[in-house]
Amino acid sequence: MRILGINAVFHDPAAAVVVDGRIVAAAEEERFTRRKHGKSPVPFSTWELPEKAARWCLDEAGLDVRELDAVAYSYDPTLADHSLDGVDAGGWEKLRTLYAKRAPAFLETALPGLDPSIVRFVRHHVAHAASAALAAPFGNCAVLTSDGRGEAESSVLGEYRDGKFLELAHQSLPHSLGLTYESATAHLGFQRSSDEYKVMALASYGTPRFFPELRESVFSTGDGGFRTAPIDWERFAPARAADGEFLAEHADLAASVQKVTEEVLLDLAAWLHERTGHTELAMAGGTALNCVANTRLHDEGPFDRIWVQPAAGDAGTALGAALQLAADFGETIEPMPGADLGRGWTDDELETWLRRAKVPYRRCDDIAETVAAALADNAVVAWFEGRAEFGPRALGHRSLLANPAHAGNLERLNDVKGREQFRPVAPMVLAERAAELFSRGPIPSPYMLFVHDVAPQWRDRIPAVTHVDGTARIQTVDSREKPLLARMLSAFERRTGLPTVVNTSLNTAGRPMVDDPRDALECFGSAPVDLLAIGPFAVWREGGTA
Ligand SMILES: [Fe+2]
Repeated sequence: MRILGINAVFHDPAAAVVVDGRIVAAAEEERFTRRKHGKSPVPFSTWELPEKAARWCLDEAGLDVRELDAVAYSYDPTLADHSLDGVDAGGWEKLRTLYAKRAPAFLETALPGLDPSIVRFVRHHVAHAASAALAAPFGNCAVLTSDGRGEAESSVLGEYRDGKFLELAHQSLPHSLGLTYESATAHLGFQRSSDEYKVMALASYGTPRFFPELRESVFSTGDGGFRTAPIDWERFAPARAADGEFLAEHADLAASVQKVTEEVLLDLAAWLHERTGHTELAMAGGTALNCVANTRLHDEGPFDRIWVQPAAGDAGTALGAALQLAADFGETIEPMPGADLGRGWTDDELETWLRRAKVPYRRCDDIAETVAAALADNAVVAWFEGRAEFGPRALGHRSLLANPAHAGNLERLNDVKGREQFRPVAPMVLAERAAELFSRGPIPSPYMLFVHDVAPQWRDRIPAVTHVDGTARIQTVDSREKPLLARMLSAFERRTGLPTVVNTSLNTAGRPMVDDPRDALECFGSAPVDLLAIGPFAVWREGGTA
């Protein structure tokens, strides 16, 4: 079966193609249109489809739109609850439902030739669940989804057995861990349903002294559900303007919201384990991008192994909806091979781009050695290799790399990216060396979805990647899965004694991650990056070492 998955309803529009149970392509619309998150997260943008991502996914699969057997749309408008107008839709809930209902007609317009009768609506949280459990390397497992909201729910818990989803509990709106976290995000001066990870970073600077009071409003109910009462944030800390000063209360509030979220998730995981007896848990939904909570679930929760969908936010529902439909058709699903499901270019194509840009470049004998030497010399390197990542994390395909031994590199990278200075950058580390440097949290951790403690004897050696609380959100690199990246890390270690480098996403302030070679050249041209490593080619900033 040839299935196109589409996410469009709330935010992060994305598309995916699954053929005969195998994931062929997945991409977010923002990488094509260069508009961060693809569109505005408002109800009246529901009609906007991931047109470019969908067209590219079909091209990558070599499919004409007429050859599709089904389109899986990750929202079922027949399940919408219009009494929820006040939850987050500001009176527009009915319009959202109408747009979602008309999605087949919109899709036919966006992708001429598409038969609107093949569009199937997949319940939002089932799409999240499938994106985790069917893509995970587990087989049968428990699944926990939590986000801001779907049609009328904010969380669904269940299990997959032989590719079939069995629901065990759900939490109806307006109760929502994600919307509560979003509301705190807005109060702290960040962008709702976009900047939640900044609250998580800010939390490390505070103490959760408001936790006991918040616990009265946000708590689990012992049946796989929870309650979240509206919270008057002003009681704890004054609303912060986007460019406002950070007060201690802001960090304390962030820490308190973080902790109350973790506690509910731990309760849900305990309940799910008790009900299913599974040893493995798959997770998705925006809440599953909270890597601090994920590590507590790993450390303190009952499951032996946890796998989180790298595109855990709504973009991942494009993939999940397609996988669910494939499973419903009785197909066997192949686990996700990696997050590099987006666009890629051949060496010849890359060279054509470089020639066109008329930049001086050199084809390297081994780009891994060139980059390792540059990093050892404390260069900042843009690393563009293979297919782009699906999901919000750069995992060694569209990455900005630096030397972790110099504390000043955190500020240097945050300046390139126009980020707040309180935000950490993360290390990538050779998988076989990770346990020596990092503890707590699972190893391997290939998708940067957990935090780890930096071993005390390493903290001074890699200060650029050690967060204020002594943690780091690591990416482990397995030489069988990512041989070029692993070779670069080994070469860097040979030169410096450090088996780890700084890795952050390749983009400048306010832009989506770099995706195509032009984005890479534009980023390189507009930011203080010393070396662009693109395929086998090296482009040095003028005055750099050739
Ligand atoms: Fe969602």
